[in-house]
Amino acid sequence: MFKWFSKSEVERDIFSPDEKIKFHFSLKSHRISYSVFKNDKIIIHPSRLGFILCGEDPLGDNLKLVREVKKKHTETITMPWGEDEKILNNYNETAFYLAEIKAPYRIFTFRVRVFDNTVAFRYEIPPQPKFSQITIKDELTEFNTDLNTTAWKIPAYQPDRYEYNYEKTFVHDLSNSVHTPLTLRTPNGCYLAIHEAALYNYGSMTIKLTNNLTLKTDITPLSDGTVAHVRLPFQTPWRMIMLADSAIELTINRTMFALNEPPSGDFSWVKTLKFIGIWWAMYVGEWTWAPGERHGATTKHAKEYIDAAVRLGIQGLLIEGWNEGWEGDWLENGIYNKFTVSTPDFDTEEVARYAKRNNIEIVGHHETVGFIDNYEKQLEEAYNYYAINNIHYIKTGYAGSMMMINGRREYHHSQLGVNHYQKTVELAAKKHICLDIHEPIKGTGTERTWPNLLSREGARGQEYEGGALSPSHACYLPYTRLLSGGMDYTSGIFDLANSVKRMSTTLARQLAYFVTIYSGMQMAADRPFMYENEFPEEYEFIKNVPTNFEKTIPIAGEIGEYYVVSRKDRESDDWYLGGVTDETGRRIHIPLNFLGQGIYEATLYTDTDDAHYRDNQYSIRKQKIKVGSSDSLDIYMAPGGGFAVQLKRIN
Ligand code: NOJ
Ligand code: CA
Repeated sequence: MFKWFSKSEVERDIFSPDEKIKFHFSLKSHRISYSVFKNDKIIIHPSRLGFILCGEDPLGDNLKLVREVKKKHTETITMPWGEDEKILNNYNETAFYLAEIKAPYRIFTFRVRVFDNTVAFRYEIPPQPKFSQITIKDELTEFNTDLNTTAWKIPAYQPDRYEYNYEKTFVHDLSNSVHTPLTLRTPNGCYLAIHEAALYNYGSMTIKLTNNLTLKTDITPLSDGTVAHVRLPFQTPWRMIMLADSAIELTINRTMFALNEPPSGDFSWVKTLKFIGIWWAMYVGEWTWAPGERHGATTKHAKEYIDAAVRLGIQGLLIEGWNEGWEGDWLENGIYNKFTVSTPDFDTEEVARYAKRNNIEIVGHHETVGFIDNYEKQLEEAYNYYAINNIHYIKTGYAGSMMMINGRREYHHSQLGVNHYQKTVELAAKKHICLDIHEPIKGTGTERTWPNLLSREGARGQEYEGGALSPSHACYLPYTRLLSGGMDYTSGIFDLANSVKRMSTTLARQLAYFVTIYSGMQMAADRPFMYENEFPEEYEFIKNVPTNFEKTIPIAGEIGEYYVVSRKDRESDDWYLGGVTDETGRRIHIPLNFLGQGIYEATLYTDTDDAHYRDNQYSIRKQKIKVGSSDSLDIYMAPGGGFAVQLKRIN
């Protein structure tokens, strides 16, 4: 019936609304491929598309075009929380309906959206005349960049999941698969990040350099060697290439959220949160997760921390180590974790009652160690247990090197892991519980649809301090990991010179993190006495800084070197500035032209001229001045340092 329309040779250009980006689609010799241009410069050379399916011919080799549907879309999305309240969803779309020219006559749609800052495409496979299920062995999508493109990467398939230091290399030197977002700079000066949006029911995309020297998707496999078993209809996640003229411009690309569906129900109950925790005391060896003399999560400690939270004016308290399962080597014994049984010295109900009376939100904790069979068996009951105790936030964790399920070892980022994480988010939503997932699946913007997924880890956080973090790490994050959404970095450690966990930062920089690393659940991670007794003046900033912003304006930065950003509070006219630098001290000039009219009281928390992350960490200066939008600030960041500024509107 569509024969009259069918075409076997097709070349099409799809332009971004501003016409600067061009996606070129090609169907030649019955194969499809694409390339990408920005300002007429080639960014992605002709790249293959398609799949290898189990027990069948590759899908993508014998195609004709049967239909083509074009669409323009412009809409402004409102996000309930995050770094920017409004996100522009503005693109030109073409859907290419493709069919095979010979048996088994399979059909699929290749859908392309071109935004002013991103190209995105996905495959949509409808039910086929003869079958309704497929097993995908490999996805053939390539991202054929110039080999001299610079890449900032972390390795995939490693025991510590995403928790690695970023390295700068050339594409031609990529030897192993790397995670996305994969940030790149082409020799002609274009910045891009390859990532995916709306990852559901599929292995997560890593990227590798093939023997043909082309970047190609390497979908995280299941233990049976395939990448996904799916029922039809099925659509892959969006493959996205974010494009920018500078590194700093890349950091405000929010198109990932536009590529996800609107919220799946009423989420007006979701509230971002700042919290302290029965936590760092375990890291510095004062307390333990496991019961015993130095057990952290006791009823007594919890009540003391609730009292402290009230005094500190912070809304939440995380309690780790409250349940059965931490005894002995907890990483080995993860299978024994019980998520509804507290230790004898911890009374969940009493603590929850005390928290409620004091208006403090408890953040519950589930460390699964990756034993997801053990967790899934208890999931419903475990979430009910918290829900009936008025606990609306849970931090989950998957600290094992692999997911364990009925004796099988699966990657965290495989289809199985992806589906597990999603199951927890959906069940939590039903119970009105917000999640902060550690050792998570990377962010692909699904929190637009599931706003109760308030935060995740998914990179090295401050738990790696004490030797394994350098000052450059937090200068890589805004350009890499944070392109995939917020992160629980566990900021605000003031005990910088602790002999067990010495921080590679200055004090001012610990404040900067509350601005430079966004998280819908933001932890003030040190013990309360550090805030109350040691540095109450500096704590003021943590107390005031919001967790929900209306607008984010990047000021300056370079990947792995420094990052300066300004964010406007969603509830007031106030702005918050933050900056971090690597081992190099630097002076930053910040025009305040983003401020509204009127006078602002600026409270500056800055490194002194002689501050240094190695031997003069605490040297901080707090200063108040009055400023307006025609003023500017000149701020010095010490080696391994940073700064934070609150700009409070006073008239
Ligand atoms: C690793 C998490 O990142 C950390 O925050 C947590 O305390 C431990 N696992 C124990 O669950
Ligand atoms: Ca972790």
